[in-house]
Amino acid sequence: MNDQRTVLVTGATGNVGPHAVSQLLAAGARVRALVLADDPNVDRLPAGVQLCTGDLADPDSLDAALDGVDGVFWMWPFFSLSTATAPAVLKKMEQQVDRVVVVSSVGVHIGLEPVDNNCHAYLEQLLEQSTLTWTFLRTTGFMANALGFAAQIRGDGQVVRFPYGDAARTSVHEADLAAVGVRALLDDGHEHRRYLVSGPEVLTQREQVEIIGEVVGRPLRWQDVHAEEARRQMVATGWPPSYADGALDYFAMLTKESEVGSTVVAEVTGQPARTFRQWAHEHAAAFR
Ligand SMILES: NC(=O)c1ccc[n+]([C@@H]2O[C@H](COP(=O)([O-])OP(=O)(O)OC[C@H]3O[C@@H](n4cnc5c(N)ncnc54)[C@H](OP(=O)(O)O)[C@@H]3O)[C@@H](O)[C@H]2O)c1
Repeated sequence: MNDQRTVLVTGATGNVGPHAVSQLLAAGARVRALVLADDPNVDRLPAGVQLCTGDLADPDSLDAALDGVDGVFWMWPFFSLSTATAPAVLKKMEQQVDRVVVVSSVGVHIGLEPVDNNCHAYLEQLLEQSTLTWTFLRTTGFMANALGFAAQIRGDGQVVRFPYGDAARTSVHEADLAAVGVRALLDDGHEHRRYLVSGPEVLTQREQVEIIGEVVGRPLRWQDVHAEEARRQMVATGWPPSYADGALDYFAMLTKESEVGSTVVAEVTGQPARTFRQWAHEHAAAFR
């Protein structure tokens, strides 16, 4: 397949979107980024991308963004938007697009996430029932989730308080997740694949924080707190309660058995998956 395809990226200003946009542009694709009107985060996007205003909550608002598009890098902002309009968004895509990559979750891969929670498994089911050619990126947790600890570390913080320091994660660098999606959109051979996408190593949450400490040059210590305390804080900062419960139950499980991992990043992109230490160096300023 040639690289002169036109690709629309949704969730373009989130954690993964800017990487997807940059990498698609570098690969020679024409790239559109779906952004909300007055989106405060468009400065995260590189020059050369075409900004298209639209709202996933209003499928008709996507018509201009989708006009003439070949592929969609589809990310749904589950935290802030229900999936009520997802079937109508999918119908719009079916009229224009032949290929969709959707960012899904390891929770679907290991059978923890039910279809009826209207989250990643639901989007997968919609795609399976559509006429579209799809690829699922069932990702483990983002390395960027560690930014959630930044407020406790910045300045002269020494202790990170959160439950389940021994939860062993295979967190993925957002650029690697994007890179797998870019290959799936631009190359043949990824149709109807359900990829488990992970980082290259197993690190406990405690070890991730220790690495951040080494990178910023200040020893950091993990302190386990009760899950209920963390749940209250997560819900207060916008987590839907059922998502907070699901995440905390999952972390508890990962103290007993490590998160699953894969070599998909290296196999699909031809590059080794980035390490957490590399991610921490790139984001050191957020923790200083
Ligand atoms: N974090 C993890 O560990 C993890 C694990 C598994 C799967 N995932 C999935 O990965 C995907 C990408 O995550 P992410 O962290 O990069 O992004 P995200 O935080 O899920 O989504 C934020 C993006 O969506 C945009 N957005 C919000 N409401 C919108 C609307 N109504 N219409 C159009 N766009 C809207 C935001 O724009 P603004 O700039 O205006 O805010 C921003 O670009 C998500 O589907 C998430 O569920 C994440």
